[in-house]
Amino acid sequence: MWTFISGATGGIGKAFCHALAKKGKNLYITGRSEQKLLALKEQLNSKYGVEVCHFACDLTSKEEREKMLADMSNNSIVFERIVNVAGVDIQKAFTDYTPEKVLFQLRVNCEATVTLTHALLKMRAPKTEIITISSMSGASPMPYFALYSASKAMLTNFFTSLHYELKKSGVKVTTVMPGGVYTREDIKEDIKNQGLWGKLSAKSPEFVAEKSLKAVSKNKITYIPGGFNKFLNFIMKLVPKRIVLNFIAKRWKKQTKDAF
Ligand SMILES: NC(=O)c1ccc[n+]([C@@H]2O[C@H](COP(=O)([O-])OP(=O)(O)OC[C@H]3O[C@@H](n4cnc5c(N)ncnc54)[C@H](OP(=O)(O)O)[C@@H]3O)[C@@H](O)[C@H]2O)c1
Repeated sequence: MWTFISGATGGIGKAFCHALAKKGKNLYITGRSEQKLLALKEQLNSKYGVEVCHFACDLTSKEEREKMLADMSNNSIVFERIVNVAGVDIQKAFTDYTPEKVLFQLRVNCEATVTLTHALLKMRAPKTEIITISSMSGASPMPYFALYSASKAMLTNFFTSLHYELKKSGVKVTTVMPGGVYTREDIKEDIKNQGLWGKLSAKSPEFVAEKSLKAVSKNKITYIPGGFNKFLNFIMKLVPKRIVLNFIAKRWKKQTKDAF
């Protein structure tokens, strides 16, 4: 039995790899960089003695996704867990996007996550867990982070529906909505610049991975890591939408970020 992890070479993905390998789980990991995957595979092999398959795959490419699925099929891989982590976070006014970047973000965050889940469900064990890393950014529209937050809202809505569709078939489906997570240097800097708010909201990738695994074992529909973030999510629903959107627009207009 295997666990699939997309975005395994990133901050949250790596934390899932370690949390699961520590429990003796065999992993099928993917990311774009063969070099990063090989280094991670060696580390997991030597530290935990688990089996690790890796496949370098640009998730924006249908052909590459199909090659990865063929590799799984040729190796008769059966999945007991699917962990959808890969995602890109472009932050800028929508009119400043190139057409290529619009598609890039939608393909990684939405198309790849949904089509791979669809394909992997055909290779699943009778009892399977699905974790998808969405974001708290998907809980409200976010001017100047519009496409990212909409892509995460799509994932949250989609996997929430899937939770109900698969409820009686042995598949547990949990969508995780983190606030800030200390992963890349630019994200750590953003969290620092948010001051007390950032400090209260942000969590380590290890915290997110461990707690998400607990949440899916309990078959939670959605899981928000951290008490402050749960509180924030609750409050946001009570405050009039116009006030929330004005606050977000002011706050997010200040900085831009690209992804490659
Ligand atoms: N960090 C946060 O504050 C935070 C908060 C809420 C939600 N999230 C979500 O959590 C997830 C992981 O975030 P992170 O902070 O760990 O990000 P990260 O360190 O940048 O990792 C992103 C992962 O996605 C992979 N990826 C990106 N584009 C890809 C593509 N075209 N094809 C295949 N793989 C691709 C990357 O692979 P490469 O190694 O090939 O680049 C990497 O493994 C994302 O979905 C993000 O939206 C993060």
